[in-house]
Amino acid sequence: MFKNRAIIFDLDGVIVDTAKYHYLAWKETAIKLGFDFTEKDNERLKGVSRMKSLEILLSIGKIELSQDEKEKVADMKNNLYKELISNITPNEILPGAKQFIETVRSAGILTAIGSASKNAMIVLEKLCLVPLFDAIIDGNSVIKAKPHPEIFLKAAEALKISPKNCIVFEDSEAGIEAAKAAGMRCVGIGSPEILNNADIVVSGLDKMNLNRLIDI
Ligand code: BG6
Ligand code: MG
Repeated sequence: MFKNRAIIFDLDGVIVDTAKYHYLAWKETAIKLGFDFTEKDNERLKGVSRMKSLEILLSIGKIELSQDEKEKVADMKNNLYKELISNITPNEILPGAKQFIETVRSAGILTAIGSASKNAMIVLEKLCLVPLFDAIIDGNSVIKAKPHPEIFLKAAEALKISPKNCIVFEDSEAGIEAAKAAGMRCVGIGSPEILNNADIVVSGLDKMNLNRLIDI
């Protein structure tokens, strides 16, 4: 039933609870720059590349920086983030995520990661999840960041599965827009009020099973 089908998973906030660490690192960066950064504003940064996130952050703080300064601030945020993830363990895999990925693989569905993060591989290795994916496409593999569909189209190409037979799991508005632009169906992970463009929204992978996949 699931022959020639694939699921492409976003990483941060879908499989592992690292979205909170990206937020904390940006918040600390904002405070260093002299302004506050709320969780509501953070929704705009989810799924978005590091440099694009910085542009959004600076626009919120009404701060203008030179290219050189921007690169230094982006490095500072990345160092803060890397420090926060340095001790993560498989305990931080979100509820039901590993089980759901294993279930779909046993049903013959191919699996890929489609993450904007250039740190995706470090996180997957720390969580011992690398063997659960047939392809891993991250922020180092693409030129155009979400909401552009490049990341998901590259994942489908690596898996040799047509985009219309791929389902994306995403926790960000930018990622859902990217999935739709790629011609894929999309399951939102989080709140239906925020992720209203997804085909369905669930609170986490622990709420998913093979039967629910058939209806999407
Ligand atoms: C995404 C996160 O997965 O990766 C964003 O949702 C983050 O918050 C982006 O900005 C880029 O991550 P990194 O690790 O390359 O800075
Ligand atoms: Mg995410």
